[in-house]
Amino acid sequence: MSYAQASENTKRKMDHIDIALNRDVEFHRVTTGLERFSLVYEALPEIDRREVDLSISLFGRRLSMPLIISSMTGGASEGKRYNRIFANAAQHFGIAMGVGSQRVALEHPELAETFMVRDVAPDILLFANIGAVQLVDGYGIEECERLVDMIDADGLIIHLNPLHECAQLEGDTNFRGVAIKLREICLGLEVPVIVKEVGHGISERTARLLADAGVDAIDIAGAGGTSWAKVESYRGTRLGPSLGEWGIPTADSLSAVRDAAPHAVLIASGGIKTGEDIAKSIALGADGAAMALPILKAAAISSEALDGFIAQLREELATAMFCAGARSIEELKRAPLRRSS
Ligand code: FNR
Repeated sequence: MSYAQASENTKRKMDHIDIALNRDVEFHRVTTGLERFSLVYEALPEIDRREVDLSISLFGRRLSMPLIISSMTGGASEGKRYNRIFANAAQHFGIAMGVGSQRVALEHPELAETFMVRDVAPDILLFANIGAVQLVDGYGIEECERLVDMIDADGLIIHLNPLHECAQLEGDTNFRGVAIKLREICLGLEVPVIVKEVGHGISERTARLLADAGVDAIDIAGAGGTSWAKVESYRGTRLGPSLGEWGIPTADSLSAVRDAAPHAVLIASGGIKTGEDIAKSIALGADGAAMALPILKAAAISSEALDGFIAQLREELATAMFCAGARSIEELKRAPLRRSS
């Protein structure tokens, strides 16, 4: 990658933040589908709300609540600033976080520091990030190890984004051989490998391929939140209006993936906005949830606003669990859901 390409990549990542914050990038016609479900309200929960335990264990680490700040940024000073705001909040609340695609830092090591957050978040469960399409371009175990070591991460997130790549002016659209490369990475890398979409969902067929490749976790990033076909339409491509509402709704993707990859850790994301959404996702089979745009929007106001937002999510989740009669996340997984339509 040349310097011109590096600065192009850096600019693109900053455009993404700017567009996500200032333009209409969310699905409207297609929703997460979570609104079709509600937890059964128990007027006699027979528990003390103070006993409700939101904590989970993920890849051998304890999280105080089942929440991951999704991979978003890095590569430039603004990205660095956001990564540090996210990391401070993650450390404060005992939740997990992913950094944005580190591709640019592999080619330009001087940008690696924009992804580094261990000085402010020594204890968090932290994930490195790269696009699956880069594996086709020749990245292998060695590069993946470098990504993890670069930020002292606990795992590697690899994102699948075929629609997003098509919607980008300069997108990489050769996905041939990704599954076999994923298998190689899963076999060779010492830390867990998580595969995610970026907002258009994971189907049952894709989930089976991922399970066969041996991935440790799948983050479905379903439709209903940020639409990457819409994001890129503000950068000059024309796919947003026709394909911007295409994807597998989060609730549908969750059910499909739970059945197709029963042994993988399952993360719900894509349009998750409230503690109740997190609770319903877990009752639908997820082990935890992740959020990108709502976290970014709160962080854009201030660190205090982000702390307030996460504290609110925690209150909502605890209340939903209490009133559904679930003392723990394990009990929440077994809580019945009512289908409203
Ligand atoms: C993202 N997302 C993303 N994902 C990824 O794996 N690597 C990345 O570099 C980025 N970059 C990025 C930038 C910005 C500004 C946003 C808002 C999002 C996708 C993100 O992790 C998530 O999967 C989707 O945004 C869907 O979640 P929400 O936004 O609906 O909560």
